[in-house]
Amino acid sequence: MKAINVGLLGIGTVGGGTYTVLKRNAEEISRRAGRPIRITMVADKNLELARSVTGGEVALTDDAFAVVSNPEIDIVVELIGGYGIARELVMKAIENGKHVVTANKALLAVHGNEIFSAAQKKGVMVAFEAAVAGGIPIIKALREGLTANRIEWLAGIINGTTNFILSEMRDKGLPFAEVLKEAQALGYAEADPTFDIEGVDAAHKATIMSAIAFGIPMQFDKAYVEGISKLDAVDIAYAEQLGYRIKLLGIARKRDSGVELRVHPTLIPAKRLIANVEGAMNAVLVQADAVGATLYYGKGAGAEPTASAVIADLVDVTRLHTADPEHRVPHLAFQPDQVQALPVLPIEEVITSYYLRMRVADKPGVLADITRILADSDISIEALIQKEAAEGESHTDIIMLTHQTVERDANAAIGRIEALPVVQGQVTKLRMESL
Ligand code: HSE
Repeated sequence: MKAINVGLLGIGTVGGGTYTVLKRNAEEISRRAGRPIRITMVADKNLELARSVTGGEVALTDDAFAVVSNPEIDIVVELIGGYGIARELVMKAIENGKHVVTANKALLAVHGNEIFSAAQKKGVMVAFEAAVAGGIPIIKALREGLTANRIEWLAGIINGTTNFILSEMRDKGLPFAEVLKEAQALGYAEADPTFDIEGVDAAHKATIMSAIAFGIPMQFDKAYVEGISKLDAVDIAYAEQLGYRIKLLGIARKRDSGVELRVHPTLIPAKRLIANVEGAMNAVLVQADAVGATLYYGKGAGAEPTASAVIADLVDVTRLHTADPEHRVPHLAFQPDQVQALPVLPIEEVITSYYLRMRVADKPGVLADITRILADSDISIEALIQKEAAEGESHTDIIMLTHQTVERDANAAIGRIEALPVVQGQVTKLRMESL
């Protein structure tokens, strides 16, 4: 049977993995897809690299637009990344009637509404399994496997770099900056790791998952994003003493008034399976009304794990490209005219529990003053530890876990606690989820 022709934009780590796996498993993949899937053209600025990966078996160019305009190409695989040239190329490919497979979470989280609308009009598919959690088929699960359910919330460890850093900080009791250097030396963190450590990468992925889970537009600009660069190793240690681990979670939760969409370091009970996802691994926990909780675990990055997701999309597109566009699985799980403009709630309206650490004078009445403020704000304390003051020290740490409250009320109470003369400096606040 005639092969379907694929044009690859970018043959770096993931592109190279895609080329290798597609070649190695060609027979198996073709048996599944119903016809061979062949990369016939590759665009990369580094032609030498492209030649070394492909062994000169396919047409090479350093002009990606030559691929998206080539009438022989059926599917364009965009692995360039970012929202500059990648956006132009994806839009051009759609305009030219080509199906698109992309791993570009930043592009979809920021410009997805425009891209999916253009694809819908043109009757082409834009597939993006590799954009979230690398090799874990979480898009397929949310869009198809859980289609009977009302999805209530999801929480994911969706950035391997930060999970590696947090695991090392906990294991070795090291500060963030030191572990970041180690992560960079090992190749886990980019030379400019900002998107990873400041939570932006996780927020892109959480935004995409929220859209598919709840049938809402991409609203990355409304997501609350807080990374791990300010996390103190002492809080990881205190959390451990209280039976919790700190993970950078991407959380999306549907509430009556809107959607919570947030990324931040989060205390989760150490006994939860997801709390034990260590190193650079990823996992997503989904709570849905019929099935209950399901957990998806695997490699969130790397050449072949990500290629696994890219090729799964290639097979899907190959199977469905002759189908009437109306009868394909909708890009964002819900029919396009059924997408609801539910607002993303501001962080002050989020309802969660809190870990609070404060440095206080070690004298009578201090704890009573603090608990009075919390009681006045209707914030209930779940657990509390007070460390014995160190030899010769007049101050000590108090650590509290609260029950659920609205973030605005928690912030107001924290402001009043910080104003107490017996409290030194600022209160450290971390959010906590029981999952
Ligand atoms: N930079 C991402 C991570 C991998 O650290 O998980 C690609 O999404």
